[in-house]
Amino acid sequence: MRLLGRIFDWFDERYELTPLIEKNVTHKQVPRTLGWSACFGGLAFLTFLVQVFTGMLLLMYYKPHPSAAWDSVTFIKSNVPMGWLVQRIHTVGANTMIVLVFMHFARVAYYKIFRKPRELHWISGVVLMLITTIMAFTGYLLPWTQLSYWGAKVGTEIPGAVPWIGEGIRNWVRRGPAISGETLGFFFSLHIWILPAVAVAFMLMHFMMIRRTGISRPL
Ligand code: HEM
Repeated sequence: MRLLGRIFDWFDERYELTPLIEKNVTHKQVPRTLGWSACFGGLAFLTFLVQVFTGMLLLMYYKPHPSAAWDSVTFIKSNVPMGWLVQRIHTVGANTMIVLVFMHFARVAYYKIFRKPRELHWISGVVLMLITTIMAFTGYLLPWTQLSYWGAKVGTEIPGAVPWIGEGIRNWVRRGPAISGETLGFFFSLHIWILPAVAVAFMLMHFMMIRRTGISRPL
């Protein structure tokens, strides 16, 4: 701990971190009337960070190929030290994040916090909610189990129901007419890189606007 403190002091002397931390974290002023429901957005963000960290650890062993994906996940769960724990945290974290995002959404909708000047908080939030759901959906296919296979099959049938263009969308999402190794590769790239990158961009937009308007006071 003392070593960490000295490392922090070294950076603090050069980059003047203490005033920044005091202003934004330890001495940050928020309305007195805020209740616990105002924590859901922050908790959703914290869960996202946990997902990124555990996801990076899982990536060290995971193999995105139909002949190897299931074996690699089994290897993580039974042979990698603490692998079962990291895998469990990532699975439970995905569900937790969805629940938190929906609770955050419910608070915002209940108090009508989407009204002027917070329209863009709402719009970026809706995009984030969509991305969170798609991240969970694409991640579900990665262990390549019977459940994930059929989950992806049913899930990708939904856009297939759109008149005229539905079949085209379904085949595009699946990278062909059926769920295959191509689908696995596509979902993998969406899950580990494309969606998290887009989510970070929208979170930055969300947070910058919240800084500008401040947190609203519930009625
Ligand atoms: C990954 C998803 C999301 C994250 C990480 C996130 C994060 C946050 C954080 C940290 C805050 C400030 C604290 C708070 O008021 O809770 C906030 C505020 C806000 N968020 Fe989100 N959010 C997400 C999704 C959404 C969704 C789905 C909506 C609505 C459709 C939304 C709309 C808003 C609005 C309107 C505010 C301002 C609240 C106020 O002024 O009191 N956010 N968000």
